[in-house]
Amino acid sequence: MNRRSFIKSTGIASLGLGLKIDKTYSNNSLSNFPIVIATWDVKNATKRAWEILSSGGNSLDAVEQGCRVEEANKKGQSVGIGGLPDREGNVTLDACIMDYYGNCGSVVYLKEIKHAISVARMVMEKTPHVMLAGEGAKKFAISMGFKKENLLTEKSKKDWIKWKENEEYKPIINIENHDTIGMLAIDKNQNISGGCTTSGLAYKMQGRVGDSPIIGSGLFIDNEVGGAVATGLGEEVLKTVGSFLVVELMRQGYSPSDACKIAVKRIVKKPNSNYKNFQVGYIALNKKGETGTFSIQKGFSMTQYNKEGNINFDSPYYHKQG
Ligand code: GLY
Repeated sequence: MNRRSFIKSTGIASLGLGLKIDKTYSNNSLSNFPIVIATWDVKNATKRAWEILSSGGNSLDAVEQGCRVEEANKKGQSVGIGGLPDREGNVTLDACIMDYYGNCGSVVYLKEIKHAISVARMVMEKTPHVMLAGEGAKKFAISMGFKKENLLTEKSKKDWIKWKENEEYKPIINIENHDTIGMLAIDKNQNISGGCTTSGLAYKMQGRVGDSPIIGSGLFIDNEVGGAVATGLGEEVLKTVGSFLVVELMRQGYSPSDACKIAVKRIVKKPNSNYKNFQVGYIALNKKGETGTFSIQKGFSMTQYNKEGNINFDSPYYHKQG
């Protein structure tokens, strides 16, 4: 399967909405799972998730373990250790996880604990709550045995000090082709789970939280329908409750590709939208194991691992420049 077979423009108007449809490669048979997809080019992460799925493990373990790979990757500057800090030099992490029973857990403004996704899972499994924030989240993580460590690497510290020379703030469209990591998986029992983990916007205001830990915005799973996850400028995803929107569109019968495209259009078609200056991308997976992606800008990609291999695809996008 190559990129050309993945995206074929059909030019058919979509259910009266006047949308051009990008057709996802079609594999409608129920043999298209297990499968895992992730935002950006994160083949090590999808490989880890696939090891779990292909040996009969469940989708929840797969997405947690897959996300942990990127959280532990010091070179990635948008997730876990090595994440770029806020304006004051604090690395703060946001993450959430959702399983096939509709359970979810989330952490917000977590400091000094790199595996935010696992803390989110503990919130889901060990507390009566959905979301823990700040000091409380850290205290809880430590009580669960997580190790405290400095998340600001020398490289991210150097970049932050350089940024402080001008303190010019504008969202970076694609951080090294590697922004928020979102992962969706469907296991051999056809159960869907998802996870999402990020250090948020580089040089954000202290206390800022984006879409990634917010169930329905950064991530949403409905095991009867499918799942979706977002990356990019969280404020724009929050304003449209993006991942929930994608899942609800799939419930209405749209393919994952079309659902992602319509959700992106919801953002760019807003009056006074300045979409040319920011990125938002979605990936989605439905109950049949069909997948799709769409973004505002060029440069976003999705990695997919199923029995056909571990493949990174460029995402189709809205903003054609020039
Ligand atoms: N999508 C990540 C963030 O805006 O924080």
